Amino acid sequence: MRSLPYWFIGLSTLFAIVGMGVGIYMAASQDHILASAHAHNNLLGFVAMALYGLYYKAVPIAARTRLAVVHFWLAFAGALTLGPGVGLAVTGRGETLASLSSIIVLLSMVLFAYIVFANRQGLKAE
Ligand code: HEM
Ligand code: HEM
Repeated sequence: MRSLPYWFIGLSTLFAIVGMGVGIYMAASQDHILASAHAHNNLLGFVAMALYGLYYKAVPIAARTRLAVVHFWLAFAGALTLGPGVGLAVTGRGETLASLSSIIVLLSMVLFAYIVFANRQGLKAE
């Protein structure tokens, strides 16, 4: 899908805005209990999603595969749920969402590793 970089990077900005909102809330309230939730939201939602977008922009042949679209949905679902999942866990409201989400996050990274190695010529080429 040619618009994959747009979706990855576009959504990453929204994760950053929400994550910064939580960061400012933590700083203002002087209650840092949500630091881990904030960290995972920002690193998976903003940093990882933006990096995925840049990768697919650099290696368009990989972006054209159906697996890349599966990767997009796994990465998005994982980024969307790990922050809230960790937030629920650290505030004692249950670990189910964090557990399910961590499997999705891991699967998305395994799939990304496969995509990178399967399309290694795309990164090796000048
Ligand atoms: C408006 C912007 C932001 C504010 C106000 C903010 C605020 C905070 C606060 C108050 C903490 C808790 C610190 C502690 O308890 O030790 C924290 C932790 C953290 N933030 Fe942010 N943050 C912001 C943006 C970001 C961004 C953009 C990222 C990543 C790209 C990020 C990554 C992290 C990480 C990884 C931690 C955990 C650090 C640790 O474990 O010590 N933050 N942030
Ligand atoms: C399967 C996915 C993941 C799981 C289950 C997981 C789980 C955890 C746990 C249990 C902690 C300790 C939290 C605490 O002490 O409160 C932690 C800390 C941390 N993780 Fe992850 N993590 C995952 C993925 C990632 C990824 C992909 C990144 C970065 C791209 C990351 C960055 C961090 C950072 C910076 C911290 C320390 C920040 C903090 O807890 O305040 N994690 N993670």
